[in-house]
Amino acid sequence: MLCRLYCMEKPFLLAPSLLSADFSCLTDELRFIEERGGQWLHIDVMDGSFVPNLTFGAPVIRSLRDKTSLVFDVHLMVEKPENFVDAFADAGCDYFTFHVESTVHIHRLISEIKKAGMKAGITLVPSTPVSVLTEILPLVDLVLVMSVNPGFGGQQMIHSCLEKITALCRYREENGHPYLISVDGGINARTLPLALAAGADVIVSGSSFFSGEIKL
Ligand code: DX5
Ligand code: ZN
Repeated sequence: MLCRLYCMEKPFLLAPSLLSADFSCLTDELRFIEERGGQWLHIDVMDGSFVPNLTFGAPVIRSLRDKTSLVFDVHLMVEKPENFVDAFADAGCDYFTFHVESTVHIHRLISEIKKAGMKAGITLVPSTPVSVLTEILPLVDLVLVMSVNPGFGGQQMIHSCLEKITALCRYREENGHPYLISVDGGINARTLPLALAAGADVIVSGSSFFSGEIKL
């Protein structure tokens, strides 16, 4: 497998996306993720407003918390993510990642996420330049680079987004920031090596993971 080969060259964390799982048997899907080398569980929360799709909220996440030790990597595609900090902390989320485009008082929200005991992540849609993150990068634990327009699994990667990963890597090195860089959207056996070469630490994979194309 390609990803085995590249894993030896650059270690990475694999974060299968629950969005592509079979929702009628989620505990079986958690076992499948663990057996195939998933270390994180990427959980896409959509509100039908920030993105044109709906998924689920904190109660579903809470119901899975005691079924697995996977790191819960929650990606909120919602308006006003500040309204959900306590609910997601109580549900057992580890990373609370929200969109820079979804709210105004980002500095305050990052403090609230950390105060609630979670790691804070920031993400951006493909049309948002990475330069808008400059003031925030010293504060976050994770930067999630969206490589598709958020809302749906199974899309083709927008390759120009890989340049954001390279820029974030360079900025991290120059400034000594500790954030992880994750990439989300259109990862398959062909694009995974490109994301790793750009410098990604965490690989989110939905459709290609559940089809068996990507595993560790
Ligand atoms: C899209 C989601 C992704 C999605 C990725 O809005 O944020 O996490 O599950 O799916 P694939 O890997 O199929 O592009
Ligand atoms: Zn996602």
